[in-house]
Amino acid sequence: LLVASVCLGLAFASSQAQPGEWHPALDSDARGPCPMMNTLANHGFLHRDGLNLTQDHVIKALGDGLNFDTSLAKTMFEMALPANPDPNATWFTLDQLNRHNILEHDASLSRLDAYYGSNHLFNPSVFASSKAFWTSSVLSAQMLANSKLARQIDSRAYNPTYTFTSTMEQFSLGELAAPIIAFGNSTEGTADRALVEYFFENERLPIELGWAKKEEKVTLQDILRAVQHIREATNLITGNSTRHTGSSHATRDLHF
Ligand code: HEM
Ligand code: MG
Repeated sequence: LLVASVCLGLAFASSQAQPGEWHPALDSDARGPCPMMNTLANHGFLHRDGLNLTQDHVIKALGDGLNFDTSLAKTMFEMALPANPDPNATWFTLDQLNRHNILEHDASLSRLDAYYGSNHLFNPSVFASSKAFWTSSVLSAQMLANSKLARQIDSRAYNPTYTFTSTMEQFSLGELAAPIIAFGNSTEGTADRALVEYFFENERLPIELGWAKKEEKVTLQDILRAVQHIREATNLITGNSTRHTGSSHATRDLHF
């Protein structure tokens, strides 16, 4: 009897994935340009087929997978809803996130610009070009910002359809802050490089590297703090100018 129930158990486990258990997407599953939404679907926190993502469902998934608080998850859902072309929609799908220049934008860290090919499949060579700027095992906001700026310069130089509106800039700052939120420290503005790379490359939570979701709820405040680190680090002007010495008169910086 014991043998029979163990066998039954194994058969059940292989056909019926448990919530949290990671499985790669099937060809028929909808996936998109967001490495974290894909990851949450691969773990079954979001519907594994990537479809019918309603507000309640997204709130539960971001809570179970990453300990995001309800109001943060609700805000993110509301920002995502325009991905569904139906103005009265109450859900979206992961592949609707692929619609170019709606939420998806050029100069992603790990995806090609739509002009060159798939704007949603993980692209190892694009990601390698971003990782080249991640020069320490603890990522600083500046390293993350450098990879973003490099991707923008590359796109602006070579992609004749390069588009980057101020709304896209706001989303992009949030996406750069995301690794800090999930795999780092939003007060310090740092993230663990090994965890971030594992996540991007496998679309899997880096549990086997020792990661666990935050014990404290993640709030909008945490996001805003991390975004501010990225925003400041995106500025190319260095902090202390050595050009001006002597008088600290305010007009010294007006160049007539
Ligand atoms: C990128 C949607 C939550 C991490 C994106 C993109 C979309 C998107 C449309 C593509 C932008 C581009 O062109 O690069 C969403 C939606 C979310 C969500 C609808 C929830 C409702 C999250 C969370 C995280 C995250 C919770 C991590 C904590 C990222 C990262 C990127 C990204 C790192 C940039 C990928 C790259 O540059 O290659 N997301 N996202 N997202 N998202 Fe999400
Ligand atoms: Mg993109």
